[in-house]
Amino acid sequence: MKETINGLSVFLEGNSKNKSIIFVHGFPYDHTMWKSQIEVLSEKYFCVAYDIRGLGESPAGDGQFTMESFVDDLEIIIDELKLDKPVLCGLSMGGYIGLRALERMENKFSAVILCDTRSDADGNEGKLKRAAAIKRINTEGLALFAKDFITNCYGKHYKQNKNEDFEKRIAKSSAFDPVGVKGSLLAMLGRNDTTEYLNKIEIPALVICGEFDALTPPAVMKTLADKINGAEFVVIKNCGHMSPIEKPKEVNEAIKNFLKNI
Ligand code: MLT
Repeated sequence: MKETINGLSVFLEGNSKNKSIIFVHGFPYDHTMWKSQIEVLSEKYFCVAYDIRGLGESPAGDGQFTMESFVDDLEIIIDELKLDKPVLCGLSMGGYIGLRALERMENKFSAVILCDTRSDADGNEGKLKRAAAIKRINTEGLALFAKDFITNCYGKHYKQNKNEDFEKRIAKSSAFDPVGVKGSLLAMLGRNDTTEYLNKIEIPALVICGEFDALTPPAVMKTLADKINGAEFVVIKNCGHMSPIEKPKEVNEAIKNFLKNI
């Protein structure tokens, strides 16, 4: 089922009486990146996935986004749907949103799953890369940027064995509103560092990382996991940055095992 909340497209699967999981996707993707998780988890959980403002089916408006406004959107969805302490599951940019949401309102969640993400903010080099990306989208259009960015996201294994799916992902993101994509880049560029909050997290945490994640490598994620009390850290073999898409079976197993104790 699809609902519009605060102008955003929100997708609901499973029985709303069950424990809920809210999925926050990465950049430059949409809620469909969680398809394989939702297919399996919706048997036992109420699964809520939405398109971040400006991406997928959620309109870009003026594209003036901040990490704070992304967290505001997440909070509004949770409140509107009256979700009772959902499990928060975010990948990469979805993890940035998730970590800032925990820093602001951890009491709204019962557990957190962080896939292929990081807690530190963009350094100078990272900020300049975001600026160059925006300039490139302005001068060359979105498609070339999307192709290069997405190519770097996936591991060799997926690109070779699921080439058709991989090409479809590129085509889908290339058709997004460039205003929304640039708005996400600005929000990520301006986000705060949430590292200091990691050792204050009290809810159970699962940290998942692809073995060959080029954007948020296992060493970065291990350091993050080590800072969260009692966090479970799982490395997914033969996998790049997009672990839920590249290795759905392994990621689903890790999530199901983790959720058994929640
Ligand atoms: C993502 O997958 O969301 C992006 O790689 C995050 C980023 O560009 O920092």
